[in-house]
Amino acid sequence: MFGVCYYPEHWSENQWASDAQRMVDLGLHYVRIGEFAWSRLEPERDQYAFEWMDRAIDTLGAAGLKVIIGTPTATPPKWLIDEHPEILPNHPKTGRSRGFGSRRHYDFSSEIYLEESLRITRKLAQRYGRHPSVVGWQTDNELCCHDTTLSVSPAAKRAFQGWCKQRYGSIHSLNEAWGNVFWSMEYPDFPSIECPFGAVTETSPAHQLAFRRFSSDQVVRYHSAMVAALREHAQDQFITHNFIPMHETGVDNHALAAPLDFASYDNYPLGRTDLIMAKCSAEELIPYMRTGHPDYATYYHDQTRGLLDRGFWIMEQQPGPVNWANSNPRPLPGMIRFWTLEAFAHGAECVSYFRWRQIPFAQEQMHAGLLRNDSSESEYLPEIRQVVAEVQAMGLTKEQKTHSRIAILNHAQSNWISDIERQSQFFETDTIQRDYYCALRQLGLDVDFIDEQTDFNRYALIIAPSMPMLSKALLDRIEKSSTTFVFGPRTGSKTNEFSLPHALPPGELQRVLPFRVLSTETTRPDCPEHLVWKGNQYQSLVWREFIDAGHCETIATMNGTHPAVLKYGQRIYIATLTCSRFLVDFFEDLCQSLNLATFRCPDGVRIARRGGLTFAFNYSSQTQSLEIAREGEFVLGGFEVAPQDVAVWRTASKK
Ligand code: GAL
Repeated sequence: MFGVCYYPEHWSENQWASDAQRMVDLGLHYVRIGEFAWSRLEPERDQYAFEWMDRAIDTLGAAGLKVIIGTPTATPPKWLIDEHPEILPNHPKTGRSRGFGSRRHYDFSSEIYLEESLRITRKLAQRYGRHPSVVGWQTDNELCCHDTTLSVSPAAKRAFQGWCKQRYGSIHSLNEAWGNVFWSMEYPDFPSIECPFGAVTETSPAHQLAFRRFSSDQVVRYHSAMVAALREHAQDQFITHNFIPMHETGVDNHALAAPLDFASYDNYPLGRTDLIMAKCSAEELIPYMRTGHPDYATYYHDQTRGLLDRGFWIMEQQPGPVNWANSNPRPLPGMIRFWTLEAFAHGAECVSYFRWRQIPFAQEQMHAGLLRNDSSESEYLPEIRQVVAEVQAMGLTKEQKTHSRIAILNHAQSNWISDIERQSQFFETDTIQRDYYCALRQLGLDVDFIDEQTDFNRYALIIAPSMPMLSKALLDRIEKSSTTFVFGPRTGSKTNEFSLPHALPPGELQRVLPFRVLSTETTRPDCPEHLVWKGNQYQSLVWREFIDAGHCETIATMNGTHPAVLKYGQRIYIATLTCSRFLVDFFEDLCQSLNLATFRCPDGVRIARRGGLTFAFNYSSQTQSLEIAREGEFVLGGFEVAPQDVAVWRTASKK
């Protein structure tokens, strides 16, 4: 299934019918509209102007398209902000109010804005909740994008104080929990509690963590109320949201997704690669500059699929150069088709391109569309024609993505902890998690992302690359599970209120891994030391724990002396960051011992499986031959995969 994002309010009405026809001719099925159109839907308070939207939906529907409406809440209009300037959020670094004139200028703690959002959402749902051409809804747009989760507005401060009261009960308990005796930070009562910003130097990590937890809860509260309002009137239409990654929302995306029918993701592989690789050398970047890094798009596809453990949508797919990264290169020919197939291989049910036509005005005029702003076809359009035909010919969406045998335990709080207390500016939980993911993908493995409620027995191997806080419930479940677990550095190193555990790290994890961390050091990434495993030397980098191995077996050492990797039964602990060569060798060996088949992907090649189909993607600039495909019957391409090309084969038995 395929779709496109369209903004009828940006174009003359007499273009709509021909646009709709051209979308259908291209093979598209869905069209998303409306997510920024509040000023046109309600130009003045209570003066609703839905007629243009009626006509737009009718025109699109008459052409055979199915419409998804985005609630316009990412862009409160000027009259509303003038009426209630307190809707604006306050920047968590400066404390200053963030102004009108772009988007996402609202505070999740504003009760007024919540009410206004519910009002416009209900109006839309009442009007279109049974419309035969409207099949679904997108809530808001990329919640929390542009760093909007945290706000230190007066409303946020009041709500935070209430949240603290609820969580800690008495001010004495809060002071104890946060360690406020330190630096005389004790609060006399709840109304005196500050938001953790604007202090002379860092505020208490427990205070910051509480504020992160509170802010995440506020976003979930706001979003869940919106979903409930839609469901009142739109009972037979789906509701989704176009997520940005969890380390960017700063919110528990699993909780955010809970009331939705499915999750969606906005996939901009070149923009992301440019930003993630901003500090890499040109030699490292150039191979991926126009293709995207082989693991960056899928890292988010797999996480989005994991939010609700079901098929997901790409609500926005990069169609050419974007406008928002540091540099915005053109994709190599073939990449739009390639990314589309890749998303399907990782479990997408629909890929929808952003946007239909390049807009000649305003902030995104340099962002490509499927059409140029003169309505001529962009050079990438033939790729979309091709991939629509290919996906249909393969019957791709009839194949179900099955669970992998390997999962990464994804945990919002772990990201917040390394933001709050880095100890080394090079220790960042999401980067560590991505490095582990890349190693597994280089071994040709499919990877699921799970949360702590998932049935662990479904997996042969579960990895927590760095998880400083483990809830008691999670520990109980780990203790009972016979699955093999690998934990990375810092796991179990903090209590639930951001202190060191009395029994030393890894705290309660000692129940399943009886060792103790005596001391921790961090060093510059360009000052590695040796990690010795099975007689081979690798690198120990950035983070190093000095360990009393207790009852655990030492299976790798730092410099041939201190324990670096420990094992106790089916649990393994890696006490340092390492080079990716170690992660690949180590997981290959571990998978072998667990009877999980691995395949060392040739340079730039990645493998993914969906139902009975196996896909190979060649990101490299060389033709690659596919030993792994010997047993299969090709449905696309063949043994030799050209650069930026894809091969798909059907395996005899469904995995
Ligand atoms: C997305 C956003 C769209 C558009 C796009 C440009 O993050 O949802 O509205 O701004 O980026 O790439």
